[in-house]
Amino acid sequence: MELQFIGHSCFIVSHNNFKVIMDPFISGNPLTTLKVEDIKVDAVLLTHGHSDHTADALQIALQNQCPIIANFEICSYFGSKGATVFGMNIGGCNTFRWGKVKFTPAIHSSSLDTEQGPIYGGVAGGILLTMGDKTFYHVGDTALFSDMKLIGELHDIHAAAIPIGDVFTMGPEDALLAAQWIGAKTNIPVHYDTFPAIVQDAEAWVAAVNAKRLHGICMHPSDRYIVD
Ligand code: NI
Ligand code: MN
Repeated sequence: MELQFIGHSCFIVSHNNFKVIMDPFISGNPLTTLKVEDIKVDAVLLTHGHSDHTADALQIALQNQCPIIANFEICSYFGSKGATVFGMNIGGCNTFRWGKVKFTPAIHSSSLDTEQGPIYGGVAGGILLTMGDKTFYHVGDTALFSDMKLIGELHDIHAAAIPIGDVFTMGPEDALLAAQWIGAKTNIPVHYDTFPAIVQDAEAWVAAVNAKRLHGICMHPSDRYIVD
């Protein structure tokens, strides 16, 4: 499995000839120079409805004729806009030709902006994505919650993307506990530096993770990392 970090909470995850994009936020994301029209993927995965996670979901799904996989309410919305969708919900798991998706809980909100104002976006979640024999836990936007210990115990997690930005999600201290509780082999800080409110010292967080005898890496936008 290879992770390509796009900035904020967006990753392109690939294995063999398959690619999926998680939480596409490209147009309007100051951290990436990627062009939405260049993205070729087999699926679009969304942890929750907020524009810094869903901004380019519809365009990417339509241009690739690939499904959006998200909670039921987000799928209802994008389905009404012409996308192919596969609605799921927290705790649910499904196997696709390119891998397996399991939705995990998150403590956060979820809504979608429309011309008529914001609409209900179901419950915010995280995603355990397995491709080949590796599992990537995209924690999503969330507060620290103690069931992260259970998620870590029940799954063999090779890499975890953990928000450290504070204000809208966990900050660095809680995120350090999250890394310890999840126990992933590699920990990647996300959801920081995109906006002034969430500027953080990611290198310091990674150093704190490594000081706990865990493994952390700082990925800069467009960096690739082979999960092993
Ligand atoms: Ni959010
Ligand atoms: Mn967010």
